Amino acid sequence: MKKPISTSNNESSQDEPIVYLNGKYVLLSHAHISVLDRGFTFGDGVYEVIPAYDKNLFRLQHHLQRLNDSLTAIKISNPLTAQQWQQSIEQLINNNPYDDQSIYLQVTRGIAPRDHRFPHKENPTVFMMTTPLEEQSSEMSVSGISAITLNDNRWKNCHIKSISLLANVLLLQEALDKGAKEAILLRDGYATEGAASNLFIVQNDCLITPPKGPLLLPGITRDLIVEIAQQQKICLKEQNISETELHNAQEIWVTSSTKEIAAVTRLDGKIIADGKPGPHWHKIMQAYQGYKRTLRTS
Ligand SMILES: Cc1ncc(COP(=O)(O)O)c(C=O)c1O
Repeated sequence: MKKPISTSNNESSQDEPIVYLNGKYVLLSHAHISVLDRGFTFGDGVYEVIPAYDKNLFRLQHHLQRLNDSLTAIKISNPLTAQQWQQSIEQLINNNPYDDQSIYLQVTRGIAPRDHRFPHKENPTVFMMTTPLEEQSSEMSVSGISAITLNDNRWKNCHIKSISLLANVLLLQEALDKGAKEAILLRDGYATEGAASNLFIVQNDCLITPPKGPLLLPGITRDLIVEIAQQQKICLKEQNISETELHNAQEIWVTSSTKEIAAVTRLDGKIIADGKPGPHWHKIMQAYQGYKRTLRTS
């Protein structure tokens, strides 16, 4: 296990997480920002969630590229270079005790009097925290999860990883309230993605995922699955999935950095295939776990 890097700004405590706020590493309870931060007043910012296995970051460059794309889209200059991001994130990881961590980072347009117009002087707020990354439950790989379809009522810039997640929050909560684990979103008769995940189906033994564009987040997990399928010469098409195709699919999966690849075995109360994660899921999941193992030191 790597040793924590100590800096003069560091604080430490046995049981309280250390977070990063604007260049300083402080105990969570000591991290404070102004109520005038535009993240708080407008949801004006973007974020990333990056897993680390044995303290090694999963696809860091891909996450940093997407962060940069999100920042460019909302016209905030990236406050750190790729090297500074890497050093800061690694230091945060090393200052927290768990081997497997989920790093949350967000950049907002900073503190300014509440006014829709951008502030004259740019002074973004950078915040990062990490939480223990839980292993996926074995129950999930035996039984899969249930999902419901809901109307995708989000804005049309879903490729930006915006901290304004109210629509996603309401959609996911509706799914939970109805006894499901995820909402699969439908826009104009086509499935876009989940409330907090990307979507794959299997049809005629071919994987299908909707193409990237403004209506969905370009997921890092999604990209890895596409790469795995290409390497293993598994049929994969990036094309739109109609509501009918979704309901008639051989297999349905939702993917994200924290969910990994979750097989949806019940959709809108109807059992998919035999109600268990299917053979294509097992094959891709094995390759995905193999990729994760390459990051592990133990
Ligand atoms: C709306 C949405 N789509 C897709 C994803 C999956 O992205 P990733 O694989 O990079 O975690 C997420 C992750 O949180 C998400 O919130």
